[in-house]
Amino acid sequence: MAEKATLIVGDQRIELPVIVGSEGERAVDITTLRQQTGLVTFDPSLGNTAVCKSEITFVDGERGILRYRGIPIEQFTNKPNFVEVAWLLIFGHLPSRDELTEFSHQLTDNELLHEGLKHQFQHIPVDAPPMAILSAMLNNLACFHQEFLAVEDVESLTAAAARLISKVRTIAAFSYRRSQGLPLIYPDPNLRYCANLLHMMFSLPYRQYIVSPEVEDALNLVFILHADHEQNCSTSTVRTVGSARANLFASCAAGVSALWGPLHGGANVEVVRMLERIHEGGLSAEECIRLAKDKESGFRLFGFGHRVYKNYDPRAKILQGTCERVLGSLNRRDPLLDIARKLEELALQDPYFVERRLYPNVDFYSGILLRAMGIPTDMFTVCFAIGRLPGWIAQWKEQHEDADSRIIRPRQVYTGPNQADYVPIDQR
Ligand code: SDX
Repeated sequence: MAEKATLIVGDQRIELPVIVGSEGERAVDITTLRQQTGLVTFDPSLGNTAVCKSEITFVDGERGILRYRGIPIEQFTNKPNFVEVAWLLIFGHLPSRDELTEFSHQLTDNELLHEGLKHQFQHIPVDAPPMAILSAMLNNLACFHQEFLAVEDVESLTAAAARLISKVRTIAAFSYRRSQGLPLIYPDPNLRYCANLLHMMFSLPYRQYIVSPEVEDALNLVFILHADHEQNCSTSTVRTVGSARANLFASCAAGVSALWGPLHGGANVEVVRMLERIHEGGLSAEECIRLAKDKESGFRLFGFGHRVYKNYDPRAKILQGTCERVLGSLNRRDPLLDIARKLEELALQDPYFVERRLYPNVDFYSGILLRAMGIPTDMFTVCFAIGRLPGWIAQWKEQHEDADSRIIRPRQVYTGPNQADYVPIDQR
């Protein structure tokens, strides 16, 4: 017998179905609530509201579990292959060898930007925010690939996905080169996904950048760990824009804008800036913790806390270990890693953080790892976006293919003035 929820409001009593997910999560289905009672529910940041059913990613915030299409993320750490995980998220199964080879070829065939798009980089200010460039250029792709504005079948979706996933690297690298006053370096079709990005960022016309296996694996892992995270702020944005049947480029460009926020993907930049302030002596770790607890300070311990994880973010655990491994392979130490560990230790023994179940999240160590690879701080959130792009595409596709999907249009509780009359200007 299917479970029901009973709602009693005034003299009205209604029963609402309870939906049960494949991992036992339960939700009260209120899709007929307003029609039956005239009532809406009030949940401003949607912390208590499921906006869709999804088969892509499972997060258990209480137990610190993250699975892509059922596979725990820990199982991707050995020989990490971001392109393989992108396929898994978008198409729902691990690719066969032929599927992976074919998709890799599609990425290689689409790594160049149209020369018209490339020339636009010459007119971008050298200090332009990289996330502004990325959002604009993803939208701009729609001008040069108008054949993918209407994605009607798997072939066109695959082709559009290949263009986005491949070209996002080139756009990121070109924006970095522009900011450094360096000549643009074209992609190398003989390099794998992550090695090609680092080549376009760090090679010179007279000297090719050669990526070490440890760094290439680490960047694959960073992108895998950022690849999807169910209905986070930027993914919900992509779904909302996509629900209006806006094209995939516009939907992902909107996702970039949401991800830019310091409470979301922009936190990885704020973490490193916070750690640098401590390292430069401007702030002690203890002072950081005190400020984070002081509501008046407006300070947050960036990289800590999460809407869903009330346990250690499994991604942070993996990233911390990878920091050590990569720094070791490069024979380097980074004082920021020691400071981050000290901050974590202080926070995890402080009642303020313990009571609120605030733990390190994905952003706490990711910046230190990217920094170890030579990637500058202002490119960290761009790297987050490169990783998250397959997740956005997968979620957009899942919604696009859902015959029951409708435009997302929340209701409100109006608290403004009751009816008033217009007053002519000479009587005001
Ligand atoms: C990402 O949703 C996702 O899945 C996102 C993400 C993904 O993969 O897409 O995981 C990626 O965005 C990770 C989060 C990165 N952001 C940060 O690190 C910024 C710092 N963290 C916070 O701003 C905060 O924890 C959020 C934004 C992440 C979550 O905010 P919530 O769920 O709205 O929590 P809240 O602000 O209501 O906090 C609850 C309490 C408050 O204190 P009280 O009012 O109960 O006294 O915890 C406090 C907050 O003040 N708190 C913090 C804190 N985070 C929460 N206090 C100090 N420092 C912090 N970092």
